[in-house]
Amino acid sequence: MAAAPNPILLLLAAIATITTVSSAASSAHPSYDSLATSCPTFADADLVPIRREEYDGRRILDITHVYHEDMPAFESDDGIGQFLWLRESMKNGSFANISEMKFLTHTGTHVDAPGHFYQHYFEAGFDVDTLDLVILNGPALVVDVPRDKNITAEVMESLHIPRGVRRVLFRTLNTDRKLMWKKEFDSTYVGFMTDGAQWLVDNTDIKLVGLDYLSVATYDDLKPAHLVFLKSKDIILVEALKLDNVEVGIYSLHCLPLRLLSAEGSPIRCILIN
Ligand SMILES: *[C@@H]1O[C@H](CO)[C@@H](O)[C@H](O)[C@H]1NC(C)=O
Ligand SMILES: *[C@@H]1O[C@H](CO)[C@@H](O)[C@H](O)[C@H]1NC(C)=O
Ligand SMILES: *[C@@H]1O[C@H](CO)[C@@H](O)[C@H](O)[C@H]1NC(C)=O
Repeated sequence: MAAAPNPILLLLAAIATITTVSSAASSAHPSYDSLATSCPTFADADLVPIRREEYDGRRILDITHVYHEDMPAFESDDGIGQFLWLRESMKNGSFANISEMKFLTHTGTHVDAPGHFYQHYFEAGFDVDTLDLVILNGPALVVDVPRDKNITAEVMESLHIPRGVRRVLFRTLNTDRKLMWKKEFDSTYVGFMTDGAQWLVDNTDIKLVGLDYLSVATYDDLKPAHLVFLKSKDIILVEALKLDNVEVGIYSLHCLPLRLLSAEGSPIRCILIN
């Protein structure tokens, strides 16, 4: 009696192949340390807050960027700028500190809904609140892509992502170049070319595409590549992920957007669990 092939082993074997495509040396993790020093005068050392990128050893990895004024914004040299204000302040006698914020829904680590590039989906109400939490949460593959190309059909094919894999986070040259840690927008970021997006749609079961800069599509193919991904309404795009210090491999991905009615984008908190 022939034993049925174990699907997990098959997947692991396939991933072992993928990880050899490129081995991005993960250099020191960039840090937000300079952001955390705004209240230096506490006498009590216990009152210094801890800002974490990982929890419980490396069991939980936070792959969301911190929102701060100098984080890059699409086509801006000045970062996102001030987005948070104290509306009520205890220093001024208010009963609590209460802040207000304002920024584009496509700021920082965020998700795109089908209405982002399709007017009829927008009008029909395919907003971020309609995105499927089953797709946004589950097993995911982190892969390195070749550093000398954008993500074309040829590159997609070379990654050998097995059928059945539904969530893939693509780590690119953007992470090596630390583009999300630079205030100035850089239009030379790596992303999907239209043919790469089409290849993914036609030849894989991927329903969640994550990438490490503000858009999954290259600057040159911004609109056509988004149109390919969002056409079926079944593919969720997660952009500006923080993949520094993440090893390639399989994780449990957990992403939760805000329930913004009629919004075609939303900030999203994403973590990987080992
Ligand atoms: C607190 O009061 C000062 C002085 O009137 C004012 O400049 C500042 O904007 C106030 N801040 C808030 C958050 O209300
Ligand atoms: C409230 O906000 C003020 C700034 O106006 C800050 O100095 C103070 O630490 C805050 N208090 C609390 C309890 O967070
Ligand atoms: C990717 O495409 C952009 C234009 O959209 C280009 O500036 C960049 O050099 C390309 N990157 C690579 C690695 O080919």
